[in-house]
Amino acid sequence: MLNFRYAEANDVELYFKWANDSLVRQNSINSEKISLVDHVEWFNIKVTNPEVFMYLFFNEDDEPVGQVIIERKDDWVFISQSVAKEHRGKKYSTEMLTGSTDDFLSKFPKDTIVSVVKSSNIASLKMSEQSGFNVIKTDSKEHNCLVLKGYQQNDENYIIKYKRFFNLL
Ligand SMILES: CC(C)(COP(=O)(O)OP(=O)(O)OC[C@H]1O[C@@H](n2cnc3c(N)ncnc32)[C@H](O)[C@@H]1OP(=O)(O)O)[C@@H](O)C(=O)NCCC(=O)NCCS
Repeated sequence: MLNFRYAEANDVELYFKWANDSLVRQNSINSEKISLVDHVEWFNIKVTNPEVFMYLFFNEDDEPVGQVIIERKDDWVFISQSVAKEHRGKKYSTEMLTGSTDDFLSKFPKDTIVSVVKSSNIASLKMSEQSGFNVIKTDSKEHNCLVLKGYQQNDENYIIKYKRFFNLL
C-alpha cells in the first residue's frame, strides 16, 4: 500500500532525477533533456501554484516511488505521471493514478482530467484504463490516445474539443 504527500520545495532534486529518466523523456511530448536551471525554475513555479497538485508517493519502506502532477489551467486539467526506474514493474502505477485522481476529483467534482498518451506506451494505457479513464484511440499520425477522467469523460462534445486541441482529428 502506497502513501502520498504533496511535493515541497526541497523535493526539487528528486524531481530533477526523475524528469531526465530516459523513458520519461522518450514518452513525453517534448523529448529533449532538461537542464538543471530550467528544471529549478519550472519546479519553483509549480510547487508554489495552488492550481497545481504534485502527488509524491512512498512505499511501505518510506522510499519515494513516483509522482503524479495534476494541473488546473484555464479550462483544462492536465496530468502526467512517472514511476522511479528502480520501482517500475511493481504495479504501483495504477494505485498512484487512482489515488491521485480520486483525491483531486473529490476536491473538484466538476473537473475532467485530460491528457494524451502515445499508443506505444502500453503500461500507461493499461494504468489509465484500470484507473477509470476513458481511453480513446485516434488515427493521428503519432498514434496518440486521448485519456479522460472526471465529470465529462464520456461527453462527445468535450471529447471532440480535446481531439481538436491536441490535433488528433
Ligand atoms: C508508465 C509508467 C508510469 C507505468 O509504471 P510501471 O511501473 O512501468 O507499470 P506497472 O508495473 O504499474 O504496470 C502497469 C500495467 O502495465 C503493464 N506493463 C508494464 N510495463 C509494460 C510493458 N513494457 N509492456 C506491456 N505492458 C506493460 C503491467 O503488466 C500492468 O498491467 P496489468 O495490471 O494488466 O498486469 C512507467 O513505466 C513510467 O514511469 N514511464 C515513464 C513515464 C511515462 O511514460 N508516463 C506516462 C505518460 S505521462
